[in-house]
Amino acid sequence: MCGIVGYIGEKDIKQILLGGLKELEYRGYDSAGIAVLNNGEFSIFKAVGKLINLEEKTKDFHPQGFSIGIGHTRWATHGKPTELNAHPHVGKKSYVVHNGIIENYAELKKELETKGVEFLSQTDTEVIVHLFEDLQKEAKTNFEAFEKTVQTLHGAYATLLVTKEEPDTVFFAKEGSPLLIAKNENGEIYFASSDTAVIGEASQAHYFEDGDYGYASKDGVFIFDKDGKPKQPKWQKLEQNKLSAQKEGYRFFMEKEIYEQSDVLSDTLLGRATENEVVFEEIDKELFDGINEIKFCACGTSYHAALCASYLFERYAKIRVSVEIASELRYKEPLLMPDTLFVVISQSGETADTLETLKMAKNAGLKTLAICNVDNSSMVRLADATILTRAGIEKGVASTKAFATQVAVLWMLSLYVAKLRNTIEKDALQNQLRTLRTIPQVVKVDDGMHERIKRLSKRYLHGHGFFFIGRDVFFPLALEGALKLKEISYLHAEGYPAGEMKHGPIALADPELFTIALLPKNLLFEKTRSNIEELSARDSTICVVGSEEFEKGDDFIKTKPHRHYMQEFFEMMVALQLLSLEISVRLGNDVDMPRNLAKSVTVE
Ligand code: AGP
Repeated sequence: MCGIVGYIGEKDIKQILLGGLKELEYRGYDSAGIAVLNNGEFSIFKAVGKLINLEEKTKDFHPQGFSIGIGHTRWATHGKPTELNAHPHVGKKSYVVHNGIIENYAELKKELETKGVEFLSQTDTEVIVHLFEDLQKEAKTNFEAFEKTVQTLHGAYATLLVTKEEPDTVFFAKEGSPLLIAKNENGEIYFASSDTAVIGEASQAHYFEDGDYGYASKDGVFIFDKDGKPKQPKWQKLEQNKLSAQKEGYRFFMEKEIYEQSDVLSDTLLGRATENEVVFEEIDKELFDGINEIKFCACGTSYHAALCASYLFERYAKIRVSVEIASELRYKEPLLMPDTLFVVISQSGETADTLETLKMAKNAGLKTLAICNVDNSSMVRLADATILTRAGIEKGVASTKAFATQVAVLWMLSLYVAKLRNTIEKDALQNQLRTLRTIPQVVKVDDGMHERIKRLSKRYLHGHGFFFIGRDVFFPLALEGALKLKEISYLHAEGYPAGEMKHGPIALADPELFTIALLPKNLLFEKTRSNIEELSARDSTICVVGSEEFEKGDDFIKTKPHRHYMQEFFEMMVALQLLSLEISVRLGNDVDMPRNLAKSVTVE
């Protein structure tokens, strides 16, 4: 979820680019940079860390008169957050910024290197500018070279490119990642990943569609669709309130982050969930050499993701798994054996308890892996290897897309290890991969479901508590649903294995006890159904979440029929996220900043 800005005009281009990047910082970044072409000369500035570091580097830079320029805030997906990996990336006479993932960058990079091209960074982005300059040699125009570049790229990208060969033109292309072009009455042209970066500068915006590419200059804006046909920009009046623009029309960041899970999961899977295998470029297979057990360790929502992983790894990779709550592991004098791979899961990469257990594992000589959303975080820097979840910045304190991407990565990793250990047949693996690739579509919020949950939520604003129940991976999902509700509605809720209710908790069953029952069709349906019947027989108020109506339930959140239980898992996850959101809204709580909570618990 990087941020992109661009500008063509006579105004103070440095302020416009830096100001635009500042407005995009909510998208998260670990480095930033700008490139400006003024009077035929390029000036390039890059810095890691906060935007203020970039401002410091440009403090003596004051271009005058007509300029073109591009800027970028980076959220690392390929390559560490370093100045070298920061955008814009440079060829001989051109610069490029990019948001997304170039899926075929490795083969393109290899091809270009055989032609003698030298790469400076570890990023996928850099192939764009070198490919463009390679194509320039044969192309009649720079636009033709850019057009051929775009046609060669596979994956997701929003990209801006400028070249000394055409000092008044910005080339653009959009596929999968957001990009817009904007203008004002003085004919100045702006580009941005989201309109917050141009509010106050521009008055109208055109939002590019997938497949759009083209160029803009003082002579105008020239857009072409995916078939190369010219298309007219559809200028829309720009929203003028920055904060609501950051929420892009949603009431809360948490709501926005629930809705963007589809796009985000596409990024998480991109280049990894291929036709026949899972590919993790960022780890070596040797990490698993000599490993007979995997120990996951995390807190909160990340702990729930770890519990999900325990089912998947034992089922598919036939490897022993243990799951620890970090604050418990720290003080229980644990048995940490060298044939155990120690895996920490953390959105922030800074949670104190989890970080301390990582240190314990390293001190005990174990191999370590971090599954994390923030590159360059403490855990990423400390672990032997890292797999990034690519969720982009998560503003809502109550985790949603971070959890979704953690489970997706862990599911992929279970299949990766299963292949390494030859515990999964080729066609079974292909079936799992086919199912995995449907998940971005599965988590697309269904408006009908959201509307139904909005109405339903009015019935669950009181009562003496909630049970969320499920079996197998739906048990950790039940824990996660209960945590979401607790965090933002402040109502008491607990997740419980459906089969355990009869061992005590069912004593609480009465009409004031709300049970949210996860009833997947493709996993232990009959078993779970009978557990729900036990509660219904004792007059508990039951809301069933599933694809099949349950006649003894009081409420029903209908999900789509799926062929695989993990598709049901992800759709039910969205339903539980929306349920906690709508109950919290009705209670008038601060959904994004709930009381007593912090986004990252960096203290014991
Ligand atoms: C989840 O909604 C909470 N914000 C909290 O449980 C969180 O998952 C936990 O603090 C762990 O954070 P981490 O993933 O950044 O390590």
